[in-house]
Amino acid sequence: MAVRTWPTARESRRRYIPALPTLWPGMLSPLAASRPPAFPFGAKRLTRYYLARNAVYHGAKLLGLPANEVLVPAYHHGVEVGALVAAGALPRFVRVDARMRLDLEDLEAKIGPRTRALYVIHYAGFAQPMDDVMAVARRHGLPVMEDCALSLLAAEGTRPLGSVGTLGIFCFYKTLPVPNGGALVVNDPALHGDVPAPEAAPLVSTLSHATGSLLQNAAFRLGEAGEALRGAARRAYALVRGATGVRPVSTGTMTFDPATVDLGMSAVSELIARRLDGEAIVAARRRNYFLLLGRLRERVSPVFPELPAGASPLFYPLLCDDKAAVAARLAARGIETVDFWRTGHPLCPDDSFPDVQALRRRVLELPVHQDLQPDDMAYLARCVKEALE
Ligand SMILES: Cc1ncc(COP(=O)(O)O)c(C=O)c1O
Repeated sequence: MAVRTWPTARESRRRYIPALPTLWPGMLSPLAASRPPAFPFGAKRLTRYYLARNAVYHGAKLLGLPANEVLVPAYHHGVEVGALVAAGALPRFVRVDARMRLDLEDLEAKIGPRTRALYVIHYAGFAQPMDDVMAVARRHGLPVMEDCALSLLAAEGTRPLGSVGTLGIFCFYKTLPVPNGGALVVNDPALHGDVPAPEAAPLVSTLSHATGSLLQNAAFRLGEAGEALRGAARRAYALVRGATGVRPVSTGTMTFDPATVDLGMSAVSELIARRLDGEAIVAARRRNYFLLLGRLRERVSPVFPELPAGASPLFYPLLCDDKAAVAARLAARGIETVDFWRTGHPLCPDDSFPDVQALRRRVLELPVHQDLQPDDMAYLARCVKEALE
């Protein structure tokens, strides 16, 4: 169960609002959950990886993209483009507008004789119009890679994102408190062939990330005592790392590393993910997004002014002119934010996409995850308004 249920008087002490959901000790229980798994966990042709970029790489190979062109949104993280390039694909970039909508006219206009696939990104748990995307793909006989790295558990209406494209790509650790994990789903029965079986996830990395998340949970729940525990554990960990030279395989890094492309997801991630209640997570994220939207929309024009059916917000994209200053002010109030996608892949000509440039310069990611309660959102909105002054 991911959603916090206990009431406490957290107003009285300094809050810590982590950027990502944290691991609650009860989530490590080996007892199986009774509910059926949410998509994509029960999907038939699902391969679990350590990172979503591994799924992009192997998906591109499966589609036969090496030496072929793939159309990719100009608004992207950068590492998914790195994975495509490492697989041998040649990216060509497509316009995304100021509200993070893929420009379907530009997409279709850019399809040429060398184009072999379309790559679509669902941003922050909000869907791109998949029926329209698939119509373009069908007109030109092209497969679609549907990137849901930011949109696990999200749907367009009732249809899960990642279930419509030829391939679906997922990242688990951005939405769930798992130490690692991503996946490739093959949806199209006409696509034959298999990806190579992934290698076992490194145990030390898995345990170190899981411990980090448990300590964040302590800091979140226990305030200063938890922060002190986390600080002591971090110092001990740095000593062990220094003495042993062990380097865990990081998640969330900016560049593609071919050395880790075959790593699979850990059994610990599987255990945690299977126990979580997807519907409760989506409901909590929607509630939290809505609470921020209501408090901030008058102050700053929202990127997503509505919460369509099925959307499961990964975060609240706050537009601000000086991201670094706002982030620093929020950090001083215990609130973690993420400087979202400030730079893209070097192959993408930034100045051809002014809307994307503006998003890169202005979007700061505010947390709305399932650990947070309405009082956390009220605190967050208050701090944001102060930070914007
Ligand atoms: C849109 C998108 N696709 C793919 C990835 C790759 O995810 P991972 O870090 O799990 O490899 C990311 C990472 O942030 C992303 O934002």
